[in-house]
Order: sequence, then C-alpha cells, then structure tokens
Amino acid sequence: MSKEIPINTILNTKEQDYPVTAAFLAQFFERSTLLLRSQIMFLLTEREAFFWPTAEKILKLNQNIDGNPIDALLEYTVAFLREQIKFLSTGDYRYDETTFDDAFKEVYDNPDVMEAFYLEGLLVTHAFWPIHLDMHRFFEESFLQQLKQEESLGVELGFGHGLYLFEILDKYPKTKALGFDISQYSLAYANKLLLQNGIAADRFDLALGDVREPLSFDDSTLDWCVFAEVLEHIPTPDFALREIARCLKPDGLAFITTAINSNAIDHLWHFNTLDEVTAMLNANNLEIVALKELPLADYDSKSKDPTIDCAFVCKPLV
Ligand SMILES: C[S@@+](CC[C@H](N)C(=O)[O-])C[C@H]1O[C@@H](n2cnc3c(N)ncnc32)[C@H](O)[C@@H]1O
Repeated sequence: MSKEIPINTILNTKEQDYPVTAAFLAQFFERSTLLLRSQIMFLLTEREAFFWPTAEKILKLNQNIDGNPIDALLEYTVAFLREQIKFLSTGDYRYDETTFDDAFKEVYDNPDVMEAFYLEGLLVTHAFWPIHLDMHRFFEESFLQQLKQEESLGVELGFGHGLYLFEILDKYPKTKALGFDISQYSLAYANKLLLQNGIAADRFDLALGDVREPLSFDDSTLDWCVFAEVLEHIPTPDFALREIARCLKPDGLAFITTAINSNAIDHLWHFNTLDEVTAMLNANNLEIVALKELPLADYDSKSKDPTIDCAFVCKPLV
C-alpha cells in the first residue's frame, strides 16, 4: 500500500507562505492525475526546502507576464517524452549536424512552438522537473554565489526564457548583462520577463545572435557567461566553447549545461557519455571547477532511461 501523504494536507500547510505554488498544484493535480504526479510528490517530500521558494519565485515571475503555466508544463513535458520514447527505440535524435536549419524553421522560428509552450514550459520545469530543480540549485550554489559583487559584465548565450539572466541581475545590482539568442521569440519573451519583473532596461541588452558565429567581444573581457542547454542544440559545439573561453577574463566563470542521451524536439548533438562532454570542455580551453551529474534514473529506481543532465562551472584555461 502506498504511504503517500494526501496532496491537500501538504497544500494546506504551505498555502500561507507559498500561495501561488499551492494554487498551481491544486489545479495541476485536478488536470493531470498521472503525468508528473510521482515527480511532483518527490519534490514535495525529498526537495521540500528548495522546491517551495523556487517554485513560488518562478511562478510569480511567470504570473507577472500573464503566463499559463499548467498548459505549458504539460505540453512541454509531453513533447519531451514523445521524443525520448522515439530515441529509446531508434538511438537517434530528432535532428543531426546537417539539419540545424530545419530545427530553426520548425522550432526556434515557429511561434506555434516557442510562444505556445516551449519558452514558458521550459521556464517552469526549473521548479517542477526534479532534474531541472537540482540543476537550478547547482546554478545558485556553485555559480551565482561565486560571482563578483562589484561592477561586472557578462553574457548569456541561448537565454531562451531569460530566467538565469533574471537571477543574476536580481542578485547583483552592479552587474550588466548582454544576451544573444537565435530566436526572435526568445528575445521577446526574455525582454518581457526581465522588464515586467523589475529589472531596469539600462542593465541589460538582448539581441538576436547565432553561437555558430564568432562572439562580438574582445579577448578576456567578460566576468561571466551562461551557456545552458544549448550545446546539444548546435552543430558547432567546439567552436562555441572556444569562443567562450576566449572572451572570459582569467578569473571569469562560465555556467555550462548539456544533456546526454536525451532527445527533445530540437536536439541534434548526441553526447553518449559524460567523458565526451568533459573532454570537449577541456579540449576547448575550459577547466572544470565544479560538476553536477544528474542521471534521470536516480529519480526513479524503476527507470531505464539513460538520460543524464550535467552542469559545469568552468574557468578559462590559461
Ligand atoms: C533549450 S533552450 C535553453 C534556454 C535556457 N538557456 C535554459 O537553460 O533553460 C535553447 C535556446 O537556445 C537557442 N539557440 C538554439 N540555437 C542557437 C544558436 N545557434 N545561437 C543562439 N541561440 C541558439 C534557442 O532559441 C533557445 O532559446
């Protein structure tokens, strides 16, 4: 017999401190009886202390831009699961190194994907997928807290929804941020997320940009760089990493994440092992100072899913 604590009992004890999250979960459990239920019960029991404040923060950011997070989370999750099921039977990702232009057309330049569910769905996974919540915690503890209090300049490449930019700009009032993303929809969404959540317009500058091209910075000029969940989306990961190493100051830090054996509607570079990723970082002048390995199987002992998310804090090799 399951010893699961009734969801209403948990929500009643939390709704005063975390009203937005408690309301979200009450509706979510009405809408989706099975999908994500065990993952969310895992969050409520095993990740309680970090989950509630993180979920409340992300849902409030989303509320301020009039989001529809339940639909987005469900649709994003179903789209991911469909691709991963295909990958488990074929061994292939949806795209490959020769078909980036198709991914651009079908995903990054497609409002029916980016605006409809991708950006908002991915944003809320940072709280509601255990693997992404743990990755977010690693970002806060091993990267965000290590950045300088004094004036600094950094960039996020492939910022998507803009959550990482918000976290940095919100915590460090003296930092300025630049950002490049290939999608006009990411650009519009992240600008809105930052501006409507109190980040002054003169503290950041986001633009369209392609990490397959050289970065427009002189050598050793950036204090920080975020390059999260982009490496597996591009045909030229070595080049992009080399550019990041070139642009970081000797004491600059990069936060880099990627996925191993994990398909999605826009993945094309298939890493098979963690060693492949660490070797690529080192070969492109990045030294790993912290690493978090997040195998999906650790969250559910019955799962045979070979997905591993991994996150790194790196500094440039000098
Ligand atoms: C999976 S999202 C990652 C969003 C966010 N960084 C995160 O970790 O949640 C990938 C983002 O990379 C962007 N992207 C894909 N290819 C790119 C390229 N060649 N140059 C710049 N951005 C790119 C997409 O538009 C999308 O916003």
